[in-house]
Amino acid sequence: MPSTAETTTTHAATLLPGQPVADAVLADVAVRVARLRDAGVVPALATVLVGDDDASAGYIGIKQRQAAGLGFASPHRHLPADATQEQLHEVIAAFNADPAVHGILVQYPVPGHLDYDAALQRIDPDKDVDGMHPLNLGRLALGLPGPVPCTPAGIEALLAHHGIPVSGREVVILGRGATLGRPLATLLAQKRPTANAAVTVVHTGVADWPRYTRRADILIAAAGVPGIIQPEHVKPGAVVIGGGVRYAGRRLLPDVDETCAAVAGAITPRVGGVGPTTVAMLFRNAVAAAERQVG
Ligand SMILES: NC(=O)c1ccc[n+]([C@@H]2O[C@H](COP(=O)([O-])OP(=O)(O)OC[C@H]3O[C@@H](n4cnc5c(N)ncnc54)[C@H](OP(=O)(O)O)[C@@H]3O)[C@@H](O)[C@H]2O)c1
Repeated sequence: MPSTAETTTTHAATLLPGQPVADAVLADVAVRVARLRDAGVVPALATVLVGDDDASAGYIGIKQRQAAGLGFASPHRHLPADATQEQLHEVIAAFNADPAVHGILVQYPVPGHLDYDAALQRIDPDKDVDGMHPLNLGRLALGLPGPVPCTPAGIEALLAHHGIPVSGREVVILGRGATLGRPLATLLAQKRPTANAAVTVVHTGVADWPRYTRRADILIAAAGVPGIIQPEHVKPGAVVIGGGVRYAGRRLLPDVDETCAAVAGAITPRVGGVGPTTVAMLFRNAVAAAERQVG
């Protein structure tokens, strides 16, 4: 998107949809799944849902249907809302021990009395499709192969797919959360053609964070604070990626205010930006896990 960087602030920014990126990733996943099935292996992504939250049940249903469409088996366990931490760990242990299961996904959120992070740490790191197990985050930090957290991986793929140069450019990330900002900073600073950036991470400890975001060639919102990024925080012509979102019921409230499109050179759409790439990366991690486990 280099040419848009020279445009004025009066234009509407180029949109960076995530669906074409996801489609390309999923087409590759489908080929890899078919190859495994031809070799007699049915890759399986197990799902775990705790409780009766409609939205969570909906999300897991979407993932199961998508898994089936790609050729994955998707064994499922549904625990009641009053399930104990031990029961959750037992379900994970059973999937860990099952050689026919290659990836495990515990739907977030779990009921308030349960510790989601503790459950994630019980997942066999080789079956961790979220890339959030401490061992896999360690691999990411060391630049070793392994599953990469889905949203950061999706953002790198989105930038690459839309031809946005990252190498050598100034990337500023608002937010240092474990899911998004922190692993994304590690990823985009790695020495690879689609990364290799000068990365700065800002957060609540940096009172004057707009000073940093205003100089970013690529600004990535990862705070989960609706509307926190306003036009005055964006360098004219910059690329703006909205990663952080909050939900009010089913309504999605993004970090990036829509008016930023008047200043940015390119921007993810309010809906259908980073989200589809995140889901695609989940399946990419799942097929890679199956490939590793069957050698
Ligand atoms: N689009 C997707 O598919 C997708 C997938 C996963 C996650 N997400 C979203 O990504 C966001 C981040 O998730 P996470 O788990 O990594 O985050 P998190 O743990 O909630 O951390 C949020 C970060 O934002 C910073 N922050 C919050 N308010 C701020 C403010 N007023 N000024 C400056 N910094 C502020 C926090 O600073 P401190 O560290 O100083 O507290 C923290 O570093 C969430 O909105 C989540 O919903 C989106």
